[in-house]
Amino acid sequence: MWSKVPRGPPDAIIGITEAFNNDKNPSRMNLGVGAYRDDDGKPYVLSSVKKAENIISSMNKEYAGIAGVEDFTRASVRLAYKDSVNLKNVAVVQSISGTGALRIGGEFLKRFYPHNKLVCLPTPTWGNHGAVFKDSGIDVTSYRYFDKNTNGLDLEGMLLDLKAFPERSVILLHACAHNPTGVDPSKSQWEEIANTIKARNHLVFFDMAYQGFASGDPNIDAFAVRYFAEQGIPILLAQSYAKNMGLYGERAGAFSVICESPDEAQSVLSQLKIIIRPMYSNPPIHGARIVSTILNSPEINQEWLGEVRLMADRITSMRAMLKKGLQEEKSLLNWDHITNQIGMFCYTGLNPMQVDRLTKEFHIYLTKDGRISMAGINSKNVKYLAKAIHEVTK
Ligand code: LMR
Repeated sequence: MWSKVPRGPPDAIIGITEAFNNDKNPSRMNLGVGAYRDDDGKPYVLSSVKKAENIISSMNKEYAGIAGVEDFTRASVRLAYKDSVNLKNVAVVQSISGTGALRIGGEFLKRFYPHNKLVCLPTPTWGNHGAVFKDSGIDVTSYRYFDKNTNGLDLEGMLLDLKAFPERSVILLHACAHNPTGVDPSKSQWEEIANTIKARNHLVFFDMAYQGFASGDPNIDAFAVRYFAEQGIPILLAQSYAKNMGLYGERAGAFSVICESPDEAQSVLSQLKIIIRPMYSNPPIHGARIVSTILNSPEINQEWLGEVRLMADRITSMRAMLKKGLQEEKSLLNWDHITNQIGMFCYTGLNPMQVDRLTKEFHIYLTKDGRISMAGINSKNVKYLAKAIHEVTK
């Protein structure tokens, strides 16, 4: 009956973990998926998460409403926006992490955005963005973002493209720790981007999957979202707690829409619920309760902030060690971008052939675009990685 179903390719990111798991070489390294590891290469469950789990362990397992755990959704928009917007004007629902938030957003745009059915994505962007929107019935196009010559931001190209899009286009922006490049605009560049977007009446869809991972401080990382909100730019927002609370498999996230009044927010919320109900009825409660306990209890919140900083700092120190390792190998190439980029990823500049060699000859797994997850590097394997990168680039 299904003999005509063609075999699909493995996922460009998650498929790498499958290949890594089949490799039994002791030197193997998984630098594919963005998942934090401690300095022993082990997954890290935050102490603040364990404390929150203790507190919620006696709760019942009743359904949350369609929009999810309310303490969680309210705390999420506060974490993102603080006081940059009247939170009564924000319609928010819990989502199946950041991906689910993007998907709800795609459905919402398809049904209700009156101006166009097109989302403009940066080049490059997270490998799943295009598929999420296309599966929601939304077309995608792209704008310039990364400059291969400088390994930095192509601000001029980006602004030209933002100006050229028809008025009221939907612009997807990575709020911080751009995935895959690790290149974020500076504050003044964000201001220029906001001015251009405002002048063109564009709608912004912020994807904030790494709040806290760029600078080590969730408040600093929310700069762009809060600044755009203060400018009165209309915003859709996808949030995830996979990375900053290490809740990968719990799938805790939020999707929100800034509206013009509490009444408008109620109408939008009612439609978000209508979108969610036939998709998965209502979201899982465990991860959301962990997050809401962490965000709503001052003491556990302080501990969490310390742990976010610890994760971000460990990644920063790995960047320095990797660059030093390449210099010690006497690489003649410039590796400054390793320490200039921020967040979980380093966009190395390695080409697909070099990536292939790293995997085949050195058992190092990474995405074809040369992105490495810095979180998979530790003080024990960084020298091996530097040596391998030098071998394939000399
Ligand atoms: C990544 O880019 O590695 C993460 O966002 C995980 C994923 O789902 O792709």
